[in-house]
Amino acid sequence: MAIEIHKPNVAILISGRGSNMEALIKASKEPDYPAKISIVISDKDDAKGLVIAKRHNIKTIIILKEKYNSRIDYDQALSETLSKENIQYICAAGFMRILSEEFIDKWWNKIINIHPSLLPSYKGLNTHQRVLKDKMKVTGCTVHIVRKELDNGPIIIQFEVPVKSDDTEKILSKRVLKMEHKIYPYALMLLSSKKINLDNDIVKYEDKESLDNFLTSI
Ligand code: GAR
Repeated sequence: MAIEIHKPNVAILISGRGSNMEALIKASKEPDYPAKISIVISDKDDAKGLVIAKRHNIKTIIILKEKYNSRIDYDQALSETLSKENIQYICAAGFMRILSEEFIDKWWNKIINIHPSLLPSYKGLNTHQRVLKDKMKVTGCTVHIVRKELDNGPIIIQFEVPVKSDDTEKILSKRVLKMEHKIYPYALMLLSSKKINLDNDIVKYEDKESLDNFLTSI
């Protein structure tokens, strides 16, 4: 008799293309992946990711910002939806909204985000453009637990990506995005299977060797 293992429900928040969202959905289809992607929520009704989510038979909900008077009201509606859907973890994947302190408090240590730089360097927008302007030799991507400051919080995984002298923004962003798609599912796996802990707001790993092996294998 097959044993049904309860997997935590995950919501993915998107605003656009949804390529990280799709990487998470694909990873979660592996039988031994420890989390279930239950819902995709977008703040834009034309987000391309919504089409991809539907193609993967994932429930989608649109919560438009125009319908709410304030960030607090918006985040309250978002929070209510997440609670109703019995969500345990939240992945921001190109969700271009700043979450309120109230929201982050309510979902403390349950929200993770991906950012296309080696945080704490290059927080915010136009990351690759700024990296190229500064003639950096290395950039990368980071998955972190969300804290109250933008693109800030305990780092779960970071991966370095070389910058080449003839890189354009488009070429560099593609090279970084390819690695984002690898590290985000691994980071969610670590969180949802409780293979990480926080010590003074620094991530500690149950099995650092496995993480190191993963990072050298990608
Ligand atoms: C990704 O590169 C992600 O790292 C970035 O937005 C892109 C979304 O692409 N997120 C941030 O800049 C957050 N500060 P996607 O919709 O194809 O995943």
